Amino acid sequence: MSRVNRTWVAWPSWVCAIAVAAATAASQPAVPKRRPLPVLPDPPYRYDDTLLPRHFTEPDGPESIAAADNTPSDNPTTDAGATLGRVLFYDTRLSANDSVSCGTCHQQRHGFSDPRRHSIGFDGQLTRRHSMSLTNARYYARGRFFWDERAETLEALVLAPIQDSVEMGMSLPGLETKLAAVDYYPGLFEQAFGVPTVTADGVARALAQFVRALVSYQAPYDRARAAGAPGSSAFAAQLPELSRLGHQLFVTVPGQDARGAGCGGCHITDAQISRSPRNIGLPDYDPRGGGDQGAVDGRFKAPSLRNVAVRAPYMHDGRFATLREVVDHYNTKVEANPFLDLTLMDRRLAVTGGPVRPVRLELTEQEIEALVAFLGSLTDDAFLTDPRFSDPFS
Ligand code: HEC
Ligand code: HEC
Repeated sequence: MSRVNRTWVAWPSWVCAIAVAAATAASQPAVPKRRPLPVLPDPPYRYDDTLLPRHFTEPDGPESIAAADNTPSDNPTTDAGATLGRVLFYDTRLSANDSVSCGTCHQQRHGFSDPRRHSIGFDGQLTRRHSMSLTNARYYARGRFFWDERAETLEALVLAPIQDSVEMGMSLPGLETKLAAVDYYPGLFEQAFGVPTVTADGVARALAQFVRALVSYQAPYDRARAAGAPGSSAFAAQLPELSRLGHQLFVTVPGQDARGAGCGGCHITDAQISRSPRNIGLPDYDPRGGGDQGAVDGRFKAPSLRNVAVRAPYMHDGRFATLREVVDHYNTKVEANPFLDLTLMDRRLAVTGGPVRPVRLELTEQEIEALVAFLGSLTDDAFLTDPRFSDPFS
């Protein structure tokens, strides 16, 4: 009770009058809602790369994970910068009515995606597309963002949801004024960038640093990969047989001699990242230009498949509810269209100049289960519960 009184003393009497009236109406104490403060460790959490396994850091060839790192030289990730980014990521003040944060639509336990097919923005409207997973977003060599790649850099992207009329509904000058008035921000900006001034540029840099810190490298697949190269007995000892079969199918091109599903032609490296937007022959794609065309001609960016098992539903529009449905698509349902990716065409026909026909993988029941099991071996429980990535306000 004394806390209530202390809070009231500083307030003008008309506020108290309204509060008392409201309290009487609702017949409960009129304690003005106090916003929680972020709880941050001292010294700060570490967000550097010292713990990454070798298969993440070795620049073995142009298509390694390391070669796909899109960290720009003018915004390297620092502990103080990512700490500020973490607070911003979970702060609902970034939305016009203090109702949603980045973390509302990018949830840690769902691999920083949203279990809803379309996410709910600050005033209840739905997003046009499904929320993208941010797991390993750092590793995309083209360095462009969104399903259609419309953001040229991550630093440019992170200011987009803040200003989006569905997602957060803020203006950048409004954001700067609002955050500068919050007591903990000037100090966090000073630690991150040396000056206490709250700027939209600083917000963008810090958020980008935090998103790039979301690296997942401790899944069962990583334990096997760290033990030995795929195919070695050391690798085999760490992964159940079904997942191993799934991995083999994933990376093998379908052909006459070997059983393969050809997934690795597009989901490349040990982090299962992608190279560029592709058209995967989703059945309702309209080559005349209707519907969602993605980047162009029905091509979409695929996020890293890390933690994919915990981030249903799938695809840019969240059309598939399960991984089984995703595999069924690639197995039997890919439809021909003029922009269908070569990887998903029947190569025997392509070579002879035959008609464009989508590949039919003819996977057995066991092979389908194996692919789903392999995708499950990419679930990283340490990442999904890591306090460094968690909500500092709760
Ligand atoms: C209301 C839900 C919502 C909120 C709030 C939201 N996002 Fe998103 N986010 C999405 C959706 C939906 C997409 C995919 C949009 C598209 O591609 O057109 C997306 C895509 C992204 C991507 C692209 C990932 C990639 O690999 O290309 C990043 C990064 C991102 N969001 C970061 C953020 C950050 C940082 C914030 C807070 C400032 C935020 N988001 C707030 C829903 C949301
Ligand atoms: C031609 C390139 C290509 C091939 C081959 C391919 N994929 Fe994809 N994959 C993509 C693209 C592009 C997307 C995103 C498409 C969209 O959202 O419209 C995607 C999306 C996915 C998703 C959903 C990701 C998410 O965040 O929603 C999963 C899971 C997946 N692929 C698994 C597989 C598996 C398993 C195989 C092999 C059977 C495979 N892919 C073969 C390009 C490919």
